[in-house]
Amino acid sequence: MAARRVVSRQAARLVAGSPAIAAAHFTAEADPFRAGSAGGYVNVGTAENRLVWDLLAARLQRARPVSAADSRYAPLHGTPALRERVADFLSDGADGADPVDPEDLIVVSGATAALDVIATVLCDPGEALAVPVPYYGALDTDLTGRSGAVLLPVPPAAGDPALPDPDLVADAVARARRAGTAVRALVLTSPHNPLGLVYRAAGLRAYATVCARLDLDLIVDEVYARCAFAGPAFTAARTATRGLFDPGRLHVIRGFAKDLGLPGLKVGVLHVRDPRLRAAARELAYFAPVSTDTQWLLADLLADHDWLTGFLAASRQRLAGSYAATAALLSAAGLPFRPAEAGFSIWTDLRAWLAAPDFDAEYALWQRLFTRGRVNLLPGAVFHHPEPGWFRFCHTTDAAVVAEAVSRIVRASRG
Ligand SMILES: Cc1ncc(COP(=O)(O)O)c(C=O)c1O
Repeated sequence: MAARRVVSRQAARLVAGSPAIAAAHFTAEADPFRAGSAGGYVNVGTAENRLVWDLLAARLQRARPVSAADSRYAPLHGTPALRERVADFLSDGADGADPVDPEDLIVVSGATAALDVIATVLCDPGEALAVPVPYYGALDTDLTGRSGAVLLPVPPAAGDPALPDPDLVADAVARARRAGTAVRALVLTSPHNPLGLVYRAAGLRAYATVCARLDLDLIVDEVYARCAFAGPAFTAARTATRGLFDPGRLHVIRGFAKDLGLPGLKVGVLHVRDPRLRAAARELAYFAPVSTDTQWLLADLLADHDWLTGFLAASRQRLAGSYAATAALLSAAGLPFRPAEAGFSIWTDLRAWLAAPDFDAEYALWQRLFTRGRVNLLPGAVFHHPEPGWFRFCHTTDAAVVAEAVSRIVRASRG
């Protein structure tokens, strides 16, 4: 007798892709390293900005308690109050001169849900979204899990893996179309995770031009927008591409996990200006709404302009300081890395420690670092980096943890 199928095929597909990195995070968090002790895990794998916890704690203590009003149903794509505050935040000048209409915003439970919603409203199963590699690994689930879309990886340009060449996007899309796959959009993460690169306006315009030529929408994940600490200021895609690209075909994801250091609130925002897509996205928000009291809390923080301005300035300064200190430690330890301009992490080159130049060896090194070195950091394979041996090191944590991580990496890599 054939075995009874318990889990649907579509759910089984999600489970198969479930990353070991979440397990590593929770194992490391359950037994953390403490300064002065040799035990515990050092967690430099999780992209949380732990440098701002003190600033948040003080402000959150002043938050209004949950009230009876929060127990009511509210619009499931976001309360008008929060959407207005978010629109003000996105129109405060840091993104350029383009104001945002609160009607074009859809508030959902995290940038993760915003990615899921935009992929689902754009793609039918089997249709493709082009994504330059390396990319934020969760896109594999977020963009395809429910939509049934497939990702079309775009190889990096020879010479500089950080600069996906718009011509290579065109080549990959042409190849896929020749093979019969409909390609709907190009997806970028700006600033880049994991590379910590800030896209220049000219680069964004080059991608938009290619999208217009190839009849593609452009999805830009800007969750690290206010986390640029060096190099050029962040340029919002809507500002860079104004006048050049149909605003109805540009869809932007924003969030508060990174910019405000509030990943546990799980609030993300989708900015869509085509009314048909917006209507469909509002319907899907029904499955991933944010609780009314969380929306109220966030609206309250965003309305507190003095606090917000001070917080963002302090966050940027601390990110810059932590990056510089970590870069100095890595250099002193002889560990090469790619300079970063934004975000929480440093793309660290451990190629010299691989037993062989392949992804099995990268996996083995990751395991050795985790089990023997008790260091949690993420291997490049998670981000589909084409070359084995690169690891993402998140430095936005206690300086003692960072220093311990660097020395443990050196010890465990050798061993
Ligand atoms: C590029 C990118 N997009 C989305 C997310 C997920 O954000 P959220 O926690 O708001 O779902 C992350 C989190 O690491 C990210 O790096």
